[in-house]
Amino acid sequence: MSRPAWTVPLAMTCVAALTATLLKAQDTQAGQTLYQSNCAGCHGLDGRGGEHAPDIATSAKVRQLTAEDLIRIIRNGISGSAMPSFATRLSQDQNAVIARYLRRLQGFGQIPAVAGDPERGRDLFFGKAGCSECHMAAGAGGFLAHDLSSYGGTHSPQEIREAILDPSRTADPRRSMATVTAGDGREYTGVIRNEDNWSLQVQGTDGAFYLFQKPELVKIARDTSTLMPADYGSKLSPREIDDLIRFLGGVAENQPKSATENSKR
Ligand code: HEC
Ligand code: HEC
Repeated sequence: MSRPAWTVPLAMTCVAALTATLLKAQDTQAGQTLYQSNCAGCHGLDGRGGEHAPDIATSAKVRQLTAEDLIRIIRNGISGSAMPSFATRLSQDQNAVIARYLRRLQGFGQIPAVAGDPERGRDLFFGKAGCSECHMAAGAGGFLAHDLSSYGGTHSPQEIREAILDPSRTADPRRSMATVTAGDGREYTGVIRNEDNWSLQVQGTDGAFYLFQKPELVKIARDTSTLMPADYGSKLSPREIDDLIRFLGGVAENQPKSATENSKR
C-alpha cells in the first residue's frame, strides 16, 4: 500500500511550525530569566518602574525606541545616570533577547494572539461599524480622526480595546470640533487644527482646510465632546471588537517602516 504523496510534506510543515513556536517560547523564557536577574531589580518585574528606575513598559518614549536603540542602551548604559552598562556582563545576543522580552512587556506582538478574524475586521471597519467615515487605515477612509494604519504596531490589544470602548479616556481636548459662522453667514463644521488669538484653522469633513481671521467671524460654536462614538460596546459584540483589533494589527504589520515612524505620537 502506498502512502498518499501529501503526507510527508504536510508532516514536515507541521514539524517546522511546531519548532518555530517552541523556539519562540524558549526565547521568551530566556528573555524573562535574563530580564529578571539583570533589570527587574530596578525597573520592576513588569517593567513599570520602581524606586530606582523609570517605567520602561508603558512609557511612550521607550515604546517608540527601535530594537537597536534598546540594545544600545543595554550595552552602553546611560552615562551620568544609574542605568548601568551591561557590556561586560551580557553578550550582544543576550541583549537582543532582553530587548525582545521588553517588547512583550510593552504589549507588542500580542495582536496575533487575539482570537479575532482580520478579514471580518476589515469588513466592519469599512462597513457596518463605520470607522472609515472618520479614520483612515491602509490608505483608505476619512480625514476627521487619526490615521490608524500604524496604531496596532504601537499599541497593545488592551489599549486598542479601551480606545474603542471607552473613547473619553483617550480623547484629546485639543482636537475639538467646531461650527464656525463666517461673516457672510456661511457655516463650516470640522476639527480645529490650529488656533491662536487671531486665527482659526478648521479641517472640514471633506478633508479641506479653511483658515479664518477671528475678528471677521460671527460665531464659533465649540463642541468639546469627542467625535469618536461612545456606544461601540453595545453596538458591536466582543467578537467583533476582537476582529477589529486583529485587522488593525495586520494593517500595522504591513506598514513600511517609515510610515510607522512618521505617525508615531
Ligand atoms: C541599577 C538600576 C538599573 C538597572 C539594573 C537597569 N536599569 Fe535601566 N535605567 C535605570 C535608570 C536610573 C534609568 C534612567 C536613566 C536616565 O536618567 O535617563 C534607566 C533607563 C533605562 C532605559 C531608558 C529609559 C528612557 O526613558 O529613555 C531603558 C530602555 C532601560 N533602562 C532598560 C534597562 C534594561 C533592559 C535593563 C536590564 C538589562 C536595565 N535597564 C537595568 C536603572 C537601571
Ligand atoms: C464620527 C467619527 C469617528 C468614528 C465613526 C470612529 N472614530 Fe475613532 N476616533 C475619532 C476621533 C475624533 C478620535 C480622537 C479622540 C479625540 O481626541 O477626541 C478617535 C480615536 C480613536 C482611537 C484612538 C486613537 C486616537 O487617534 O486617539 C482608536 C483606536 C479609534 N478611534 C478606533 C476607531 C474604530 C476601530 C472605529 C470603528 C469601530 C472608530 N474609531 C470610529 C472619531 C471616530
